[in-house]
Amino acid sequence: MLGFSSQRHFACSNSLSAVLGGLFGAATAAAAAYLYQSRNGASTGFGTKGSDSLDTTHLPVIDLDAYRKYLQACVKARESGSSTPSIDSFPDAKVQCQNIAKCFHLYGCLVVKDSRVNEADNNAFLDMMEKYFEQDDAQKQKDVRPEVHYQVGATPERVEQARNHCAKIADMPPTDRPITPCPPEKDVKWRFFRRIGPRPTSAAEGAAGFGDLNALDVIPEKFSGVWADVCDTWGNKLLQAARDVSCAAAQGFGLPQNTFVDKMEYGPHLLAPTGTDLKKWGKKNQAMANYHYDLNFITVHGKSRFPGLYVWLRDGTKTRVVVPDGCLLMQAGKQLEYITGGHVLAGFHEVVVTERTLDAYKKRVGKGNSHWRISSTLFSHLRSSVDLEPVAHFNTAKNYPKIKVGDQVKNELKAINLSQSK
Ligand SMILES: [Fe+2]
Repeated sequence: MLGFSSQRHFACSNSLSAVLGGLFGAATAAAAAYLYQSRNGASTGFGTKGSDSLDTTHLPVIDLDAYRKYLQACVKARESGSSTPSIDSFPDAKVQCQNIAKCFHLYGCLVVKDSRVNEADNNAFLDMMEKYFEQDDAQKQKDVRPEVHYQVGATPERVEQARNHCAKIADMPPTDRPITPCPPEKDVKWRFFRRIGPRPTSAAEGAAGFGDLNALDVIPEKFSGVWADVCDTWGNKLLQAARDVSCAAAQGFGLPQNTFVDKMEYGPHLLAPTGTDLKKWGKKNQAMANYHYDLNFITVHGKSRFPGLYVWLRDGTKTRVVVPDGCLLMQAGKQLEYITGGHVLAGFHEVVVTERTLDAYKKRVGKGNSHWRISSTLFSHLRSSVDLEPVAHFNTAKNYPKIKVGDQVKNELKAINLSQSK
């Protein structure tokens, strides 16, 4: 059986496609190996349950470029009027589909290598967001839109409040418990939401009844010359990666390629950086974002300059997030759980000030850099007008009654104190 400790050497290397090609069929064993190790706390060579050394660099890396070769062949075939090629003719791409489906099911998250994603774009984005959040509160308050549930513009600290998961937390072994206090307090992070992708213009596209989820963007007045370009360059790359992963995930689940991506069209996708002032909140074990799941479809994280993000695997193992250079971390949100009837569960996570966060703070601030921790996050969504329910062979699942995506989003926004509407 091939374990993850031997895969880690290939993380984010260009030879990944060839390597994973040789692993065809081993993904289940590898994924199961990691789950077994994490559940049992046995020595793994890379850390033990409850240890801070258990991290996401030990998950398999998805080579999205290998899958994109198949997508490009599909586009060519469509343009020439030929029939769509079979995924069976692209074994490297098929492996990625299987790995994505298995990772989502077993872990709720994936590490993705995509050559379109480069650190220069991420750095330009992080540089701008640091400057934005460094502004005084009165300036940032001009960008706050509570009337549309903060779904565009800024959300100040001490507004969003995670749902209460204290009963679930009480059942966890102490080594896997989040730092989040019970009951959870309001988050100390700021947020900015920037819409990515086209807005709906018709009822079918999601405009009717959900205008508040599809509001016009806010452009901060001191950034008007650069804001759209920097945000959209980075945001569109994250969104495209999420779209391609959704195609691969569908195929990995044995569904048609467009099952999810068609429902993402005109979705209210949000570039969603958080900003936490570590000068103010930088005390060890301070929760920056309390323990929660995301309400959307797939969340994409680029690299942050400060560690602190933790995710929980399906079996409840707490895992520190490390995003290798040139990679993205993706995590399942509630809409992916819903549409798969719980085959994939929305991934829980929290962001905490740790010793590592404080080390990074000392180093960065010592060199004159910003004291704000920015997350490089995008929330991909399904379209507001979509009927959200388990699809195809997932439709035997109970506890997922049909609901419009826009209504599901509004219910979640109420539950986390972002919407006051009745
Ligand atoms: Fe989140």
